[in-house]
Amino acid sequence: MTHETDFNAFVERYPVYAETSLLDRLRTTDFARLDRDGDVYLDYTGGGLYADSQIREHYRILADGVFGNPHSHNPTSLAATALVEDAREAVLTYFNADPAEYDVVFTANASGALKLVGEAYPFCPGARYLVSYDNHNSVNGIREFARRCDAEVTYIPVRNPDLRLDEDLVRRGLQLLEPGRRGLFAYPAQSNFSGVQHSLEWIAEAQERGWDVLLDSAAFVPTNRLDLSAVKPDFVPVSFYKMMGYPTGVGALLARHEALAKLERPWFAGGTITLASVGASVHHLASGHTGFEDGTVDYLGLPAVAIGLRYLSKIGIETVHARVESLASWLLDQMAELRHDNGAPLVRIFGPDLMDRRGSTIAFYLLDPSGAVFDVYRIESLAGKQHISVRTGCFCNPGDGEVAHNISADEMEGCFDDECVPVTLMDCQRLIQDATGKVPNTIRVSLGIGSNFADVWRFREFMAGFRNVEAQAIAR
Ligand SMILES: Cc1ncc(COP(=O)(O)O)c(C=O)c1O
Repeated sequence: MTHETDFNAFVERYPVYAETSLLDRLRTTDFARLDRDGDVYLDYTGGGLYADSQIREHYRILADGVFGNPHSHNPTSLAATALVEDAREAVLTYFNADPAEYDVVFTANASGALKLVGEAYPFCPGARYLVSYDNHNSVNGIREFARRCDAEVTYIPVRNPDLRLDEDLVRRGLQLLEPGRRGLFAYPAQSNFSGVQHSLEWIAEAQERGWDVLLDSAAFVPTNRLDLSAVKPDFVPVSFYKMMGYPTGVGALLARHEALAKLERPWFAGGTITLASVGASVHHLASGHTGFEDGTVDYLGLPAVAIGLRYLSKIGIETVHARVESLASWLLDQMAELRHDNGAPLVRIFGPDLMDRRGSTIAFYLLDPSGAVFDVYRIESLAGKQHISVRTGCFCNPGDGEVAHNISADEMEGCFDDECVPVTLMDCQRLIQDATGKVPNTIRVSLGIGSNFADVWRFREFMAGFRNVEAQAIAR
């Protein structure tokens, strides 16, 4: 079938796509570089793409102003402070967060925001860290802070094959918190592995049971509305480069004032105190976000956050959402339809294969006519030769990967037998494959603001090129 025939069938099936034509216009202006270089970018969950106009607007601010370190009161410092506070206001406005309820702490990225919570959460003995299998490693890593303080760490498993959390198991987990004890419940609004969107209703339910809720929103907010007047998680980490491509060095922790006040910072740094003494060896931590922003924030990068968020608002995140949803739905259908001549499927999807309660991130691998798995790294490399950018590996989400590929805890432990010898992901994947025959590798494609039908069509054509091909034929 030609691109044109497929496109006509696509728009007939997804009439909402026509309502997102603004993004087609922007593809020829703000994102024209994609087509100039023939790139098919399919790693928006890895990093978003910036619009040309964002960087031009940012450039004008930098070219026209004189900005000093915001920790002073001179005119250039005050000018920088104005930029920082404008960005903070833009973040609150974008997420519809009431400033009386939420604060914004600027960090280097979402991981920096997560670490702020992990290292300062009062994980005393008797406290709990309840966490879903489906999580980025930067959320998993908080368990080390919890364990160091003898808090109990409990994982809620995801189910195979849809990689969703079982509602009953979530409720059972939430019942674990004893009255009067502290507990942190952490899960992602959208999985960076499978694209699953977990229920936001658990936030209020958990809070009613005494939990503080950390909603990892890094993979959700680039294509979905997070309205903090409708749901009120205690902690919300985000990375701005995932939302609008630029700047790459800024993230934020949106936190309820009350929740932020519960945190106990393990140190102080320049900018976080009202006063510190060497002689008296004491310090006063500043209240609110000031007490959490170590050193100097990225004051020249922050205006780009405000610019980017206003850019997204002007387009409307619902427009982006509608577009990627229809494109991902088409791609999922195509993946299900792709078959070898012997009838065997070409694609195995990990996670939901329909668009219900999922985002536009798709994890999968390709199978040959006998069911053997194509080496994902070879697929990535062959895609690269056609200027198609996909992601491979485990995407820093080992929990989903282990469940998706049926890797037991015992099998994983084989990769940690000798604690002194660091084993790489590649080594571990090889060990497991040799020992069990399972192939614990995955390919991920994800869509975003610059995506169009031609991108997913070209990727479908790329996958179709492996019809009736033996996996061995592309092995290195
Ligand atoms: C769901 C999720 N959480 C956290 C992170 C960490 O983000 P960063 O690497 O920007 O700190 C990512 C990055 O991919 C993510 O997808």
